[in-house]
Amino acid sequence: MLAIENIKKEHEQIEQFMQEVELIMKTIPLNYPNLIHTCKECASFWNLHEEKERKIFKILSKSNFKIPIRKINFKHGELKEHQNAIKLAINSGSEEKVKKALESHGKKLIEKLRAHISFEDEIIYTLPLELLKPKTMEKLEELDK
Ligand SMILES: [Fe+2]
Ligand SMILES: [Fe+2]
Repeated sequence: MLAIENIKKEHEQIEQFMQEVELIMKTIPLNYPNLIHTCKECASFWNLHEEKERKIFKILSKSNFKIPIRKINFKHGELKEHQNAIKLAINSGSEEKVKKALESHGKKLIEKLRAHISFEDEIIYTLPLELLKPKTMEKLEELDK
């Protein structure tokens, strides 16, 4: 199941992004352009991931799978708030504001993102895929196109 496999891979990729951001934040002197670049890259990757996930979870929950969609969507909203705060700081062009935003929102975002990913991983790694109905399978395959 490609769509679900991709979600797993993307979680690994997001973890790599987070480790990169953490490393850049710790490095003195701060490589500001690299930091901005990595944050932006991570944000656009994350947005695409979230969109895919929203579709996949919706398809699964409309079938015979119990997916805590409300909880997941609530978390996505929470994560987005931190993400937006960082985006605002980046758009202000002030290095000082970005540093402050990353100290508060960035660290919280990374912490919450890790918890969120492990919550989702627990769901997707234990999905009883043998119970997938052919119709659901078809809908998921449509997403791969
Ligand atoms: Fe998610
Ligand atoms: Fe995810």
